[in-house]
Amino acid sequence: MNAMVVGGAGFIGSHIVDALAARGCTATVFDDLSSGKRDNVEAGIALTVGDVRDKQAVGTAVSGSVDYVFHLAAQIDVRRAVRDPGLDAQVNVGGTINVLNACVQAHVRRFVMSSTGGALYGEPSTLPAGEQSVIQPLSPYGVSKYCAEQYIGYFHRVCGLETVILRYANVYGPRQDPTGEGGVVGIFARHILLGQSCIVYGDGEQTRDFVFVDDVAQANMLAMRGPLDTLNIGTGVETSLNQLLAAFERVVGHPVAREYAPARAGEVRRIALNAEKARHELGWKPSVSLADGLARTLAWVRTCL
Ligand SMILES: NC(=O)c1ccc[n+]([C@@H]2O[C@H](COP(=O)([O-])OP(=O)(O)OC[C@H]3O[C@@H](n4cnc5c(N)ncnc54)[C@H](O)[C@@H]3O)[C@@H](O)[C@H]2O)c1
Repeated sequence: MNAMVVGGAGFIGSHIVDALAARGCTATVFDDLSSGKRDNVEAGIALTVGDVRDKQAVGTAVSGSVDYVFHLAAQIDVRRAVRDPGLDAQVNVGGTINVLNACVQAHVRRFVMSSTGGALYGEPSTLPAGEQSVIQPLSPYGVSKYCAEQYIGYFHRVCGLETVILRYANVYGPRQDPTGEGGVVGIFARHILLGQSCIVYGDGEQTRDFVFVDDVAQANMLAMRGPLDTLNIGTGVETSLNQLLAAFERVVGHPVAREYAPARAGEVRRIALNAEKARHELGWKPSVSLADGLARTLAWVRTCL
C-alpha cells in the first residue's frame, strides 16, 4: 500500500508518516519545508520538496502508484491569514484543488483531509460542537479551510474520488513548534522548562479542546477504511488556559509563573468538539490523557532546548 503525505514534514503530518510506516505502508512526503523540517522525515522516506501551489509539481509527485493521499499542507498561521487572506487562500484553497486534481488524474483510492473544527464553528451555541454546528469562521484561515472542504465535496460528488474530512480540535504534542506562533501547549512547555513566565492573553478562562497528536494520527489510519464523511476529532472536553497551567503544575510538581496580557482579537472564547460520530463510524476515541500528553510534550521540548 502506497501513501503520500502532503505536508508530511510538519508536526501532524510527520506523525501520520510514522503511523503509516508502523503499519507497513510505504509512505512518501511532499512538502515545501516552509514550516516543516527535513529532520521530521525519517531517513529512508522519500521527500519531494515542492509547493502545493505548483500544479505541475503536485501532479508529478502524485503518481499512478499512490493509493492514499493525506493532505496537511496549509498556511496555518491565523494572524498571517488575517494580514494576507489572499496568500492563505492560494495555499489552502488553490493548493488543495491541485492535490485533488492530481488524485483524480492518478486514480488515487482515497483522499484524507486535515481540516479544522476549532476555526470553523466560531462561538457555537452548544458545546461540545457537533459537525452540524453552524459554520461561522472568525478568521480567513477558517474560511479557506471550509472552502477547501467544499471543493473536496465537489471532487467526491462529481469526480468519484473517495474523500474523508477530519476536523481537528487543538492538536498538541512532540514536533509542534514550541516557539513563536506555535501551539499554546508547546509554547507553555518551553517557557516552563526555561523557568520563564507563560504569557496568557486575556483572563485565561477561554477554553480549548486539547487532543494529543498520536490520537490524531490514529484517526487518519482509521479513515483509510471507514465511511466517507466529515468527522470531528477532539476530546469533547473544554480546558481553560488556567486549567492547562494547573495541569502543567501537577506534571512538573512546582508552581508555574504566568503573566496576563490583553486578549487578542479574533480568538474564540470557548470551543470543544463532539467526536461521537468518529467514535461510531471509525471506532476512534482519544486514548492519551492530558497529563500524559503534557509529560510527553515536555520530554520532547526538553530535547530542543
Ligand atoms: N495543529 C493543530 O492544532 C491543527 C488543528 C486543526 C487543523 N490542523 C490542520 O492540520 C494540518 C497540519 O497542521 P500542523 O499543525 O501539522 O502544521 P505544520 O505547519 O507543522 O504542517 C504543515 C506542513 O505543510 C507544509 N506546507 C505549508 N505550505 C506548503 C505549501 N505551499 N506547499 C507544500 N507544503 C506546504 C509545511 O512545510 C508543513 O510541513 C494543516 O492542514 C492544519 O490546517 C492543525
